[in-house]
Amino acid sequence: MIDVKKIRKDFPILFRKVNGQDLVYFDNAATSQTPQQVIDVIVDYYSRLNSNIHRGVHKLSQEATEAYEQARIKIQKHFNAAQAYEIILTAGTTESINLIASGYSTLLGAEDELIISALEHHSNIVPWQMLCEKTGAQLKVIPMTLEGTLDMGAFETLLSSKTKLVFVNHVSNALGTINPIETIISKAHAVGAKVLIDGAQACPHIKPDVQALDVDFYVTSAHKLCGPTGVGMLYGKSELLKALPPYQGGGEMIATVTFEKTTYAELPHKFEAGTPNIAGGIAFGAAIDYMNSVGFDNIANYEAELLHYATTELKKIEGMKIYGESLNKTAVLSFNVAAIHPYDLGSILDQMGIAVRTGHHCAQPIMDFFKIPGTVRASFSFYNTFEEIDRLVEGVRKAVVMLQ
Ligand code: ALA
Repeated sequence: MIDVKKIRKDFPILFRKVNGQDLVYFDNAATSQTPQQVIDVIVDYYSRLNSNIHRGVHKLSQEATEAYEQARIKIQKHFNAAQAYEIILTAGTTESINLIASGYSTLLGAEDELIISALEHHSNIVPWQMLCEKTGAQLKVIPMTLEGTLDMGAFETLLSSKTKLVFVNHVSNALGTINPIETIISKAHAVGAKVLIDGAQACPHIKPDVQALDVDFYVTSAHKLCGPTGVGMLYGKSELLKALPPYQGGGEMIATVTFEKTTYAELPHKFEAGTPNIAGGIAFGAAIDYMNSVGFDNIANYEAELLHYATTELKKIEGMKIYGESLNKTAVLSFNVAAIHPYDLGSILDQMGIAVRTGHHCAQPIMDFFKIPGTVRASFSFYNTFEEIDRLVEGVRKAVVMLQ
């Protein structure tokens, strides 16, 4: 059970006013809010530990290194990776994907095929297009249906012995659809392809088990699950990570350097050049602790109720069109009302203190599929309330009267 009143006290930002109104924060899919427990960890790092890690003989550096590596272990345990060194700490989902795309540029050729889905965020499209430009490999796309789900029959026809890699998001950021990644992974493996799952939108709602999924690569960002921005992770099976070349050269990722030849460090350091976001990494671990203290079953159940209530109430508004009607979805509601431009609707909601995202949500192909410029997206979190949904519904009603 979620005690939402108690939980909200952990989030100072939820008590601020926006445009003279109590804030209603429904842009959680863009970034989640940060609880005091995580803010405290960041403040503590800069107040007590600030130093560089993995290189100092002195006490501060040793304590900071210990805190950072403990965070890596928390992340490993949360995702049930077999080894802590299979968790590479990155700047976020986008960097994690680019790291893999860069690594595969040396391993693919013109005869190879890659598969993405029609539901991807630009960050899980563009790096693969760039990889195809470099290698001559072909990019194929799993089409979507009007409900906003993947056409799994079409996926099977795209798979062949030429397929080397498959990239799909666990949850669509624009529609909330939860994709059948277990089936995607097993079917891709049956033709010998490796699979990367973009978990940025899943991890605030679902606790993935990378070993049970048998996924090859799984990526996410801390700021989607109550952590800070600028830090995220790449999980990779160790034998696959070992086979990839380093992403960036620099300090920390080397074993030895001479002007004739450099040898590289072992995992995870091979992929972690330069001074990382140390406070961010430690706070990522704290965010995982926080989310687990709320409990993922509690989060899923409560958010499903919020989604059901919001869907029912918004559908009562004349001209309401909801995009993404999968039976299996997270608490994301993408919608338009009649011919009102989403930006206009979103701007009026903002005047009422209600934060939503408007536009293509970095998923332009989905908007092209529906032949719309974008949507208004309200994305809910476990700290949102039914009263806030009432304010959204009332706000949309008022905005529609003003705009029509
Ligand atoms: N990818 C983030 C979103 O969906 C920024 O809003």
